[in-house]
Amino acid sequence: MKLSRTFWRLSTVILTALVTLAGPRGSAGSTMAVKEPANGDLFTAFVSVLRHPRCMNCHSRGDFTRQSDDGHPHPMNVRRGTDGRGVTAEKCSTCHQDQNLSGSHLPPGAPNWGLPPATTPMIWEGLSNAQLCRSIKDPKQNRNRTIDQLVEHLTEDKLVMWGWNPGEGRTAIPMPHEEFVTRVKEWRAVGASCPN
Ligand code: HEC
Ligand code: HEC
Repeated sequence: MKLSRTFWRLSTVILTALVTLAGPRGSAGSTMAVKEPANGDLFTAFVSVLRHPRCMNCHSRGDFTRQSDDGHPHPMNVRRGTDGRGVTAEKCSTCHQDQNLSGSHLPPGAPNWGLPPATTPMIWEGLSNAQLCRSIKDPKQNRNRTIDQLVEHLTEDKLVMWGWNPGEGRTAIPMPHEEFVTRVKEWRAVGASCPN
């Protein structure tokens, strides 16, 4: 009798230990980790926009920009430069204006056209959804934006809006802009959590 009780107690301890070990990584204790899994789906619901070539052509690896739906390197050896606006002889603004030039293969345009600066290059290429989410929320990588400022950038910035009106011969982002805005705001409303 006594022996079997000890046995049961022991198995409960072992079972609890096993369940704890097998549980989702990092879920023990911290409220942040507990909150993350549930709402990360709301980020995944609009991440396809960020991964669209209209965005990725400026948010890819390397010190150069890209073009078109296949993301081929920008011709004329256009470089980032420290401020992202190009190097001396080839400033982005030499060719890119505040709006699209009409006619195929003419430079598209929006205010502040350029790549993110070299210190915070905001490169999303090769990142998982979780990593991408954390990187845009990280003040060290997003130029000290708060979540509200990040949401404002995503929903109102002219460079971002350009993706829905990219000029002749370029594929616009397929998710309607209104739907994108709604989804981004839904994500913020539940705490802007990232997927696991
Ligand atoms: C012509 C280049 C260009 C295009 C196209 C572009 N971006 Fe950006 N993006 C930038 C630059 C430059 C910054 C930095 C501006 C700043 O910090 O004020 C930036 C910053 C951002 C940030 C800030 C946070 C961070 O860490 O990344 C987000 C979010 C963002 N862009 C989203 C988008 C989305 C979504 C699209 C497509 C719909 C897009 N961008 C298209 C150049 C571009
Ligand atoms: C010498 C002129 C010139 C300079 C300088 C220049 N561009 Fe361009 N860029 C163009 C032209 C022309 C196109 C359109 C090509 C096409 O549609 O076939 C273009 C296209 C692009 C695209 C492609 C958009 C897309 O999604 O297809 C991006 C992004 C871009 N430029 C970014 C930049 C950035 C950032 C700089 C500065 C670092 C820069 N460009 C400097 C001429 C220039």
